Amino acid sequence: MSEWDEYADGWDDDPVARAYAAAAWESLLRLASRIGIELDGATVCDFGCGTGLLTERLAPVAARVDAVDLSEAMRAVLAEKTAQHGWEHVAVLDRLPAALTGGYGLVVASSVLAFVDDHPATVAALAERLASGGLLVHWDWEADPDDPDGGGLSVEAARAALEGAGLVEISVGTGFEVPFEGEVMRPLMAAARRP
Ligand SMILES: C[S@@+](CC[C@H](N)C(=O)[O-])C[C@H]1O[C@@H](n2cnc3c(N)ncnc32)[C@H](O)[C@@H]1O
Repeated sequence: MSEWDEYADGWDDDPVARAYAAAAWESLLRLASRIGIELDGATVCDFGCGTGLLTERLAPVAARVDAVDLSEAMRAVLAEKTAQHGWEHVAVLDRLPAALTGGYGLVVASSVLAFVDDHPATVAALAERLASGGLLVHWDWEADPDDPDGGGLSVEAARAALEGAGLVEISVGTGFEVPFEGEVMRPLMAAARRP
């Protein structure tokens, strides 16, 4: 059982989750175009994929998507979508594959890394699975320095983990704007490449 299981049923109906995923996707397209990363035919990992709000955008263009999530209920929602679409190139996995020939050209993690037990170790594990030149992108609620128990990731922590994982061309900033509980939130977007 994962604490995330209980969110699986309603996740795709949550307007914030939908708006976040749509905005993350648009920000990914802008970044990929700016730095010259080709999504068409890419080998991708959607880490912490949930019900696959990003996977379903990636699947029509990518050559392969490994969609990884520890929540069985989240994976079940995505597995059903995958079967409906006949996406044989999408694998729904409960953990990262141990080894990968060639590595991923793109790893995305949308609203995941602030929730994992060990954020730097997870970033290192994702970085290890990138191909040379491959891109890691993640989006997270930004931590509020005045609310140490409020969760999220700080710009400094995001940058330190990417540097610690040996990645280069690091950028950490605001990804997009999304309405949340009567406010406009500006999640952090962090990106880096494997040398
Ligand atoms: C806020 S949801 C985001 C889901 C999806 N990325 C989206 O944007 O709709 C966080 C997801 O991360 C997953 N997750 C948390 N820790 C994880 C871990 N260590 N490994 C894999 N998935 C994890 C949860 O199960 C949950 O589905």
